[in-house]
Amino acid sequence: MFAVDRFLYHMRLSDETLVDIMTRFQAEMEKGLGKDTNPTASVKMLPTFVRAIPDGSENGEFLSLDLGGSKFRVLKVQVSQEGKQNVQMESQFYPTPNEIIRGNGTELFGYVADCLADFMRTREMTHKKLPLGFTFSFPCRQTKLDEGFLLSWTKKFKARGVQDTDVVSRLANAMKEHEDLDVDILSLVNDTVGTMMTCAYDDPACEVGVIIGTGTNACYMEDMSNIELVEGDEGRMCINTEWGAFGDDGALEDIRTEFDRELDLGSLNPGKQLFEKMVSGLYMGELVRLILLKMAKVGLLFGGAKSSALHTKGKIETQHVAAMEKYKEGLANTREILVNLGLDPSESDCIAVQQVCTIVSFRSANLCAAALAAILTRLRENKKLARLRTTVGMDGTLYKTHPQYPKRLHKVVRRLVPNCDVRFLLSESGSTKGAAMVTAVACRVQAQRKQIDKVLALFQLSREQLIGVRDKMRTELEYGLKKKTHALATVKMLPTFVYGMPDGTEKGKFLALDLGGTNFRVLLVKIRSGRKSVRMYNKIFAIPLEIMQGTGEELFDHIVQCIADFLDYMGLKGAQLPLGFTFSFPCRQTCIDKGTLVGWTKGFKATDCEGEDVVDMLREAIKRRNEFDLDIVAIVNDTVGTMMTCGYEDPNCEIGLIAGEWSSVTPLARFHMTLLRSDGGHCSTARGFSKGTGSNVCYMEEMRNIELVDGDEGQMCINTEWGGFGDNGCIDDICTQYDKEVDEGSLNSGKQRYEKMTSGMYLGEIVRQILIDLTRQGLLFRGQISERLRTKGIFETKFLSQIESDRLALLQVRKILQQLGLDSTCEDSIVVKEVCGAVSRRAAQLCGAGLAAIVEKRREDQGLEHFKVTVGVDGTLYKLHPHFSRILQETVKELAPQCDVTFMLSEDGSGKGAALITAVAKRLQQQEKEN
Ligand code: BG6
Ligand code: BG6
Ligand code: GLC
Ligand code: GLC
Repeated sequence: MFAVDRFLYHMRLSDETLVDIMTRFQAEMEKGLGKDTNPTASVKMLPTFVRAIPDGSENGEFLSLDLGGSKFRVLKVQVSQEGKQNVQMESQFYPTPNEIIRGNGTELFGYVADCLADFMRTREMTHKKLPLGFTFSFPCRQTKLDEGFLLSWTKKFKARGVQDTDVVSRLANAMKEHEDLDVDILSLVNDTVGTMMTCAYDDPACEVGVIIGTGTNACYMEDMSNIELVEGDEGRMCINTEWGAFGDDGALEDIRTEFDRELDLGSLNPGKQLFEKMVSGLYMGELVRLILLKMAKVGLLFGGAKSSALHTKGKIETQHVAAMEKYKEGLANTREILVNLGLDPSESDCIAVQQVCTIVSFRSANLCAAALAAILTRLRENKKLARLRTTVGMDGTLYKTHPQYPKRLHKVVRRLVPNCDVRFLLSESGSTKGAAMVTAVACRVQAQRKQIDKVLALFQLSREQLIGVRDKMRTELEYGLKKKTHALATVKMLPTFVYGMPDGTEKGKFLALDLGGTNFRVLLVKIRSGRKSVRMYNKIFAIPLEIMQGTGEELFDHIVQCIADFLDYMGLKGAQLPLGFTFSFPCRQTCIDKGTLVGWTKGFKATDCEGEDVVDMLREAIKRRNEFDLDIVAIVNDTVGTMMTCGYEDPNCEIGLIAGEWSSVTPLARFHMTLLRSDGGHCSTARGFSKGTGSNVCYMEEMRNIELVDGDEGQMCINTEWGGFGDNGCIDDICTQYDKEVDEGSLNSGKQRYEKMTSGMYLGEIVRQILIDLTRQGLLFRGQISERLRTKGIFETKFLSQIESDRLALLQVRKILQQLGLDSTCEDSIVVKEVCGAVSRRAAQLCGAGLAAIVEKRREDQGLEHFKVTVGVDGTLYKLHPHFSRILQETVKELAPQCDVTFMLSEDGSGKGAALITAVAKRLQQQEKEN
């Protein structure tokens, strides 16, 4: 008795040593979880992409494979929602011969697929597509639930050519051999995870799964914020520790014995799974055999006699160890086993052998207890609890069949972590039930994904659809130009009375107004001829919502007030300067300084303006104020101003494009404005609270094509007002329910349909409508439509641009959404980003299709094979959005391949262009006077 104790002194671990091992394992876990330390960590701490324990809502019919434990099974699991006990399983065991599990990998998966096929055929399950959960009890590196690359085989398996491949696709490929079967492998689950989930189905407090069987391993729920290998920090994820590899880096050398080393050398995977080899069932019998052999050799047993069986690897199995340790029959069992090994044991030999078994199995339980205690401590610390109450799901033949093992394990765990109340729950039904739960959740996620994809697909336009848009736009352009059809045309094609590009001879000092974009500005523009130098001074003013949507008189009085303020500020009071008025709304012009407002667009809705000449309205307001006089020489659309600004630098510029923002007036900004106004009633410089622009284009057209204006010579710039494209329903086929909702909620319902699909704030609104719908369908924000989400205008272009930036990590997207008051998970953030992407992509493509129509028209009109042109562009969407400009350009190239289109960003805004137009107009005015 004492002899055995002395001989196996090293295998008897004191509590002090166990606490030490526990501390070492805690450090190993930390190392495995860290991004930088994981590559060299021996305990791999593998993310499993299982994020929650079952909540009882799982249901459906599933197939399941359970491969890697002592038995290979195929199962059918039926989970129904009513009541928890409603899980029905049917299963069949299949053998796993050595030539299969240690042969060629393709044959292994072929065999697994054959067994599955056999199972399905005998149960007449071939007619329907079934989701499958694959319990695969080996270490796999997963990046999602249905993909896992085998890190290395462990235990008895060693099939060639499988390591580093995705076992899910291997199995899926093998299933292709069975054409009559349709299975969808939705989840790959380690047996520890399956065990934890099985137990959690009955006890929701279960957050750890432990296997002590052929191999040994544990998993537990870790806080996402600690898992550096997976993006996101919300909630928890199950980590498959793969604790069997503990010690592979030498961390357990001080407690390993000569027997452990010998066993390792004779194993399939020397140097690997060193902890497992001290603990699990596959090795325990062999350890005992090696010890007995050595003891016999040194004369401590059997009077020094050995048998050939005792010399043979694998002759003592773990089941023998369990039998020998059995209470009461143990001694008799021991004698029988030894006799069967060809030995002739004495009574004291039998007692000594029993003692060896106890020491070996006790060490196993002790080591497991130490590692488990480390996990429990980690859980307790993660939760910042003084006392942890939790459940551990248990499985594995050694744990289940060894008579003393569970009791010993439980006792040591409780001693090592006295501040944890642990319930050990045996998984009666193996890991399959749990795997089915994981698969059920995956199934739900897949179905949800399909719903999301369906919505996103509405925004994906085919090449044919884009060609359709281009061709319809072309038709509308022609309608707008023709006298007969003009009145009914949705694209109004307004003559601007701008006949040519600046030629560099313009000069003088001018005032300019820039109204209708994101900012309202007053500018002083000094142009010098010759060197083509332009100097500008400007001030941005706010136009409060109540003025944008008040009366016309109020609006123009406000504008004049801002001009007065600016003149004051510049020390120009009394100077009678020529003024160019950029007014970014559709105006019917009969000459350069007259413009009748056709109808407000975007965020303006001041009364008594539509149908009026806005130049007159401005003049009258100046008169009302009676402080200064101004010479209003030209009224200019922003597209025209932009074209002119760019044309001053590049004479090839014959097109002006605005792809702008529609930024809303935030309540805070409005409050700010009230303060400014009560502060003496003056407008003041302020950013960010203004109306906004839409989407529009102007271009130089041949006079002979412009039937509304007399004369056939030369060219004139046409303000297309293409925002109205589609107002006759011609693009209804690509309009979605979300576009309709945005239109209905706008100030000008039924109008500017194309603009509402292509410009900034409308895009934000479309995004918001989609998010509301997805939330309503339970696919986002936990199904809760928050007050914030109900708020119009929360998605300004700048947010869309930020969210879609490629440089932004998911967490940052989530932060932006949180800033917007949308409490989102990481999954939500991914979906929101996708939605933004789909909406802005469509906008850019639609804009591109429209522009293609214009450049193609110009090319054909001039009878050119190739047409080279520059487009001057402005607008926040174009400037700020990370992808808009690129997609727009790509689309133009694709749909107008014979045109070589250069895009030139207008850096100076349209005020400069307006001043240039004013300069030309002024010169013409003077010439007329002189004649
Ligand atoms: C079974 C599980 O009950 O236990 C398997 O269903 C698991 O998934 C096995 O691998 C572990 O124990 P053993 O002893 O069979 O390796
Ligand atoms: C500015 C121009 O740069 O861009 C304005 O000066 C124009 O005239 C505006 O309306 C368009 O962009 P946004 O995004 O400000 O509406
Ligand atoms: C081995 C495997 C591990 C599995 C365990 C129990 O350690 O590597 O994945 O969980 O055996 O079967
Ligand atoms: C709106 C206006 C148009 C303007 C465009 C860009 O579409 O109707 O005149 O050019 O917005 O600001």
